[in-house]
Amino acid sequence: MGRQTSAHDLASEHQATRRRPAPGRLGGWAALSLLVVLVLAGCVEQQPYSTISPQTAKADDIQWLYQILFWASLVVFVAVQAGIVYTILRFRRSSANRPEQVHGNTRLEIAWTIIPAVILLVLFIPTARIIFDHAAAEENADFVIDIYGKQWWWEIHYPEIPANPDDPESLALVTANEVRIPQGANVLFNLQSNNVIHSFWVPQLSGKLDVMPGRQNQLQFTADTVGEYFGECAEFCGAAHAWMRFKVLVVPPAEFDAWVEAWRAPPPVDADPETADVVEVPAAFGVCLACHQVNGTNAVIAPQGFGTNPVPDTGNPGPNLTLLACRDFIGAGVLVNNEENLRTWLTDTDRVKPGVYMPNYYDDGSLSDGQVDELVAYLQTLQPEGGCPPRPPLGGDAATPEAVAQN
Ligand code: HEC
Repeated sequence: MGRQTSAHDLASEHQATRRRPAPGRLGGWAALSLLVVLVLAGCVEQQPYSTISPQTAKADDIQWLYQILFWASLVVFVAVQAGIVYTILRFRRSSANRPEQVHGNTRLEIAWTIIPAVILLVLFIPTARIIFDHAAAEENADFVIDIYGKQWWWEIHYPEIPANPDDPESLALVTANEVRIPQGANVLFNLQSNNVIHSFWVPQLSGKLDVMPGRQNQLQFTADTVGEYFGECAEFCGAAHAWMRFKVLVVPPAEFDAWVEAWRAPPPVDADPETADVVEVPAAFGVCLACHQVNGTNAVIAPQGFGTNPVPDTGNPGPNLTLLACRDFIGAGVLVNNEENLRTWLTDTDRVKPGVYMPNYYDDGSLSDGQVDELVAYLQTLQPEGGCPPRPPLGGDAATPEAVAQN
């Protein structure tokens, strides 16, 4: 009895303190809603990571599933809101009497168990079909690319493209953070990691797939539209996870071949052609050789297979810098690739990319200002004599590299 009285007291107290929303407050909410709409509208302009502008058949399938889900959710949302509004208006309190208290309604409960089950079934059937359709099938692949998720960048190996065309046993073409593929080729990506779990995701080309230590996951797609597509790591992997971006460049087959040729040709810098039969790199680059390679020069000594993971070939400790000058950005998206930023990368490495595994040799005194200048000048020469191979136009809704680096 005592309990009932106190509950009643609480209810009347609540009644007494109930206020109608002041008109000023309503205006505030309207302004806030307008702001949200405007901000969201602003997002529409640049969507490098858009999931709703598919550019491959596989991304189209995913878009189709998304549309089913979207429209089904919209119908449910409208129906529920309509129910709420109807209930509020129809059953609003009209006198001080308590409404009739009811306990359960079997018909309603059966209905709201069956309806969601039917909705889930409708979503499940096409989803399951597409998951099976998308399973990688090695026999269909035109060629294979091995992707290594590093902390925090991507190493890309083309195991079927040897560095020396006359020697199939020579090292495979290897690059970083930019995956070039020929238009119309059915490409099989072998995804692996030597550290933590990452996720390989190019929203406009395919769904995301985990990149795991000790296991190889396979992703496959054919990109028919020439363009540059943005990708990123979609699984939290540590301090610099947000700066583990990459690009997929879909180029016409002839341009792909030109890029392979350019990668095979030694860079046009020769410190001392009299004394060496290989192209030498500047002496200041010596400290960098522990982790970086430049093909066609004496800087190909960085160890491969660095790491403690069971995956036998886990690539190099740092990105291969052959054709570095032709990449759009450095540090997996953290800086646009230009002279000033290359200097910043060498002098402020850990400040521009906190957590980075490249030591800051400038801070510890191993590199002088003069040596930094020399290295920046050298890094900018890492391109073919005739200039960099052409880049495709930005694909889909992709934004400029500057915009992406600033995002
Ligand atoms: C201990 C290994 C190590 C050493 C030594 C090292 N680096 Fe690095 N470097 C890395 C790693 C790891 C990255 C990738 C960092 C990231 O994006 O998270 C990197 C990235 C770079 C990049 C950007 C490449 C790209 O594609 O984004 C440049 C340029 C570079 N290093 C130049 C140098 C130079 C010049 C030196 C010598 C002064 C040097 N590095 C020494 C490990 C090293």
